[in-house]
Amino acid sequence: MQIEWDSLHEQAKIAMAKAYAPYSKFPVGVAALISDGRIISGCNVENASYGLGLCAECGLVSNLIASGGGRLIAAVCVGADGNFLSPCGRCRQLLFEHGGNDLLFMTPDGPAPMSKLLPWAFGPDDLTQ
Ligand code: THU
Repeated sequence: MQIEWDSLHEQAKIAMAKAYAPYSKFPVGVAALISDGRIISGCNVENASYGLGLCAECGLVSNLIASGGGRLIAAVCVGADGNFLSPCGRCRQLLFEHGGNDLLFMTPDGPAPMSKLLPWAFGPDDLTQ
């Protein structure tokens, strides 16, 4: 499948602009290409109870399931400056569940597979052993 990284980057920036981040003032946006060709996105949504804030990737995964499911093929995450942002550890696990080792995540050095971002990941397959 053709991955249009530029349009994923644009969608991530659009999502970032919608973030609700009044506490950290650190808006984050993420966009992903799904196996059926659609593009989905998410932004961080913070809370007055600080620890309950939701990362942008949480919103992305929620949107993935709510909009019909599928596998994550490629993703771009950005901060306020529009530069590529590294997903936090918890979010790597969330992404792995729906993209596996082959999900490509954009880094400043180019696309990297989840197998590199989250080596020897624990996932659904481990539960069947
Ligand atoms: N954040 C994300 O949305 N995704 C990440 O992968 C890293 C961190 C958010 C959480 C919080 O709202 C803000 O960035 C500052 O940590």
